[in-house]
Amino acid sequence: MKIAIMGAMREEIEPILESVGSYTSSDHAGNTFYECRYEGHDLIIAYSKIGKVFSAITASVMIERFGAEKLLFSGVAGGISKELKIGDLVMASALCQHDVDITAFGHPYGFIPEGSVMVDADRSLIDLAKEVARSMGVDVKEGIIATGDQFVASAERKHWIEATFKADALEMEGASVACVCANFGVPFFILRAISDSADGDAGMDFDTFLQSSAKVSARFILEMVKRLGN
Ligand code: ADE
Repeated sequence: MKIAIMGAMREEIEPILESVGSYTSSDHAGNTFYECRYEGHDLIIAYSKIGKVFSAITASVMIERFGAEKLLFSGVAGGISKELKIGDLVMASALCQHDVDITAFGHPYGFIPEGSVMVDADRSLIDLAKEVARSMGVDVKEGIIATGDQFVASAERKHWIEATFKADALEMEGASVACVCANFGVPFFILRAISDSADGDAGMDFDTFLQSSAKVSARFILEMVKRLGN
């Protein structure tokens, strides 16, 4: 199977590239795409750069140009739920865009006409992740991930996102990747390890924990790849 693994930042895919052995690379649409064989699969690996626009480009290219049949996202997030501490894993059951606002026309926050506020992730990939978590002896919380083109470093904004979308974690790419995959009919899975709590300390915590949390997520994603059937 051709599986796409993407992150937003170099730090999020470096631990994956370090684990897969040899790979080739090619440039397209402003990104570098890495290809290799791993555990019986063809992998296409890339980081998009931060935010909804760049991540949508990268996901689209992985699907349309490289023929990805499933897409797994690995990276870090700001925690909203009190259950999520730095280094904990959260997988998206559904994703929304917290910065979409056409409420002036009577629509709810996050809604785009002919779309939906929430995009559901693939249930069989979530079930696989639960099995992988059991066998690794790690906890992965399932929850709503809210995405926006903002690094959230304010308790007030974080609580607004929690109250409006019942979100458990927030980041800057998941919902745009989800939209791309849903529109192309490609099953997707979004995994994040917590790097900060999206409050006043978020900037400092992010810098401190980006690398270690990115590794936690990458390691789990590679275990999932090993368990994916062909
Ligand atoms: N990714 C990790 N932490 C984040 C935060 N606080 N805001 C947005 N994206 C993030």
